[in-house]
Amino acid sequence: MTTINTDNANSKVFIETYGCQMNFNDSEVVASILTAHGYLIVSDIEEADVILVNTCSIRENAETRVWGRLDVFRQLKKKKPSLLVGVLGCMAERLKDKLLEDEKLVDIVVGPDAYRELPILLRSAEEGQKGINVLLSREETYSDISPVRLDKNGVSAFVSIMRGCNNMCTYCVVPYVRGAERSRNPETIVREVQELIDSGYKEVTLLGQNVDSYNWVDGTGERVSFADLLEMVAKLDSRLRVRFSTSHPKDLSDEVLFTMAMYENICNHIHLPVQSGSTRVLELMNRGYTQEYYKNRIEAIRRILPGSSISTDIIAGFCTETEVDHDQTLSLMKWVGYDFAFMFKYSERPNTKAARKMQDDVPEDVKTRRLTEIIELQGKLSEVSKRNDVGKVFEVLVEGVSKKSVDHLYGRTSQNKVVVFPREYSKIGDYVNVEVKDSTSATLLGVIV
Ligand code: 5AD
Ligand code: SF4
Repeated sequence: MTTINTDNANSKVFIETYGCQMNFNDSEVVASILTAHGYLIVSDIEEADVILVNTCSIRENAETRVWGRLDVFRQLKKKKPSLLVGVLGCMAERLKDKLLEDEKLVDIVVGPDAYRELPILLRSAEEGQKGINVLLSREETYSDISPVRLDKNGVSAFVSIMRGCNNMCTYCVVPYVRGAERSRNPETIVREVQELIDSGYKEVTLLGQNVDSYNWVDGTGERVSFADLLEMVAKLDSRLRVRFSTSHPKDLSDEVLFTMAMYENICNHIHLPVQSGSTRVLELMNRGYTQEYYKNRIEAIRRILPGSSISTDIIAGFCTETEVDHDQTLSLMKWVGYDFAFMFKYSERPNTKAARKMQDDVPEDVKTRRLTEIIELQGKLSEVSKRNDVGKVFEVLVEGVSKKSVDHLYGRTSQNKVVVFPREYSKIGDYVNVEVKDSTSATLLGVIV
């Protein structure tokens, strides 16, 4: 058997990341794998011997952006012919060897479950051999790998608790590019969080495409649910803030809400993507709930976790969406009174069920107009949500220095709202009580009390 020496003491790697928090966390796993093989992670692209771009496929414009970046890297390659470019993540998985068609553009293509192969693929690429590994796995969770924290604030970190997705929403590319759902061994999650606590971190966000379906069965047949895991993590340290994302309305259980209510350090914020307010559209999307059921979940949150904030994702202009459907989305938004929302125009993704079986029949100008109405309404709802905080005192975890003034710091409330305040004697990583005095469109303004 020949073994390839994958240690590389000299190569400098620059990693650029697009997409969701999960992808950012994956880049940290990649950084960990590469540094273990002697690579150096650099933050200046000009220094790099290797550029890795971790990509997103969720909407067409996410992919367009990456193609634009690859063009820029092509220019860098002209200046420095030894420079290697790798495409990682969801676009690598979706487009596979198509990304290698243009000889001068990309050297390696690596899907989300194949990052352990990166050192070998890079070594081959250094020797002129283009490489690809886009095998999806039923087991890979990178559970033994301690991510290298690339976002260096030292306060807040992401921890992946599962990978993949089994939901099969008809519009969504994720199950195809990230494979089947698998949960990570809870012991390794707890260990990773404990390491973060030991190195001074004050907040963790547990990540999964659908955290409510987290499910681990250990050797003795004992099951660990998401509520159990949440409790295990919250109990590690009462001063550690615990967040999680993303919840699915069809699976969000009262048990999870009761666990949140029981532990002060589990933050009072739920991201609960609704996608549409119309039961007919929800059915076409294969979301697994009706408008009524979604409302029932919101009522459960309000009952069990009063004072909790709620955010959402909304898609405007899905196949066959009528003005009546759209109005139902607007009314539901008002009914919930979301604190925050991510809002998108429907973008057909190749090979999804919607692309194969449905017509992308809402005209572009109608999609744009509906999205604008949704964004405008959310603007008003976010404003109300912030105005309601004026006069109240919140515990804020200090995360950084305000961009506008070095005399001001910023942090977030348990409800995930950003607050800016004069620093006084506080520093990054502290908990401070801040009275909200005013709000702008994006932030709360306050003073330490
Ligand atoms: N078009 C537009 N938005 C989409 N999302 C997922 N797939 C699509 C698509 N094809 C949105 C959903 C999801 C968020 C992460 O991205 O709202 O919750
Ligand atoms: Fe994340 Fe989905 Fe984009 Fe992949 S396609 S990076 S899972 S948002």
